[in-house]
Amino acid sequence: MKKRVGILTSGGDCPGLNATIRGVAKALYQRMGENVEIIGISNGYSGLISGEWRVMRRDEFSGILTVGGTILGTKRTPFKLMRVEEGGVDKVEAMKKNYKEMRLDCLLCLGGNGTHKTANLLSQEGLNIIGLPKTIDNDIYGTDVTFGFHSAVDIATEAIDRVHTTAGSHSRCMVVELMGNKAGWLTLYAGIAGGADIILIPELPYTIENVCAAIEKRASQGKSFSILAVAEGAMDAKEARMKRKERMAKRAEEGYTTATNRIAKDIERITGIETRVCVPGHMQRGGSPSPYDRVLATQFGSYAAKMVSDENYGITVAMKNNHVGENKLEDIAGKSRLVPEGHGMLEVARRMGISMG
Ligand code: F6P
Repeated sequence: MKKRVGILTSGGDCPGLNATIRGVAKALYQRMGENVEIIGISNGYSGLISGEWRVMRRDEFSGILTVGGTILGTKRTPFKLMRVEEGGVDKVEAMKKNYKEMRLDCLLCLGGNGTHKTANLLSQEGLNIIGLPKTIDNDIYGTDVTFGFHSAVDIATEAIDRVHTTAGSHSRCMVVELMGNKAGWLTLYAGIAGGADIILIPELPYTIENVCAAIEKRASQGKSFSILAVAEGAMDAKEARMKRKERMAKRAEEGYTTATNRIAKDIERITGIETRVCVPGHMQRGGSPSPYDRVLATQFGSYAAKMVSDENYGITVAMKNNHVGENKLEDIAGKSRLVPEGHGMLEVARRMGISMG
């Protein structure tokens, strides 16, 4: 009997999804030859609920190592709505029914924190699940790195590099808003790689006084421009004391969604230095994965294939101290990995005189 392996990609896309799909497929064919069949589920859990799937041809996995996005399509299907019936559909029952109808031996779920919560739910419902950790936010608990992160760091760094020269020419401050609503890893790494003078991340609330003091200190040393790397989830100390809803309502009233534009206005008002905002946005999730991510995706994908042949389910693949291994889904689902105070990379930033606000 052929082993039937389902695969889906869920949540926000990122570079490295296709490289991981390829890693899984090639390593499975290598191990099992004709004794394996791969079933691609379209658009994440949404396709698993509605039963959109196809048996994939072997050649569909060729030539995708370098291709951004996901050949399977993806969709955000919020975990908190999984148990809520919509249009008379019990989503969890629908996913179980389609898993059965596809005659799957196991299902591989490539995604971030939300994806892993649903993966754990399905595992607890008795399905054979293996997770693979992707996200540019690098915030999945239990793994030192997720695929997609380093490609996004490369792209964000390039954005900072490019505004650096124009900031210098015009003697301006440039505020670069980078992705990351809860986790500041991307901003911290790209900020250091791009030589930012000020890095603001959600985990460390800033004060505008500290930000402006850092800019004015540079100006007093003859440096007429400053570069700020600001995570989209950055907040000031007052906002940090508010509930998320309250904070968002206050920002909406003031005409902002993120703090970035407000920071830029305040810098101009307080320091008198002309300031511009740059938002690379979804560019950070687009295009070809970096060589680092291609290697990581191949490591993770081929390890998942080994887990399939070992029938080791209810787990997600992880990188721990430079070794590829796994965590139990139940141990990591619902947790996230934020930048902790005292983290080595924060120390590096501070030693370099970078202001963290
Ligand atoms: O989770 C990855 C991420 O890119 C976050 O950094 C960002 O806050 C969010 O997704 C954006 O989501 P969407 O693509 O749905 O706008």
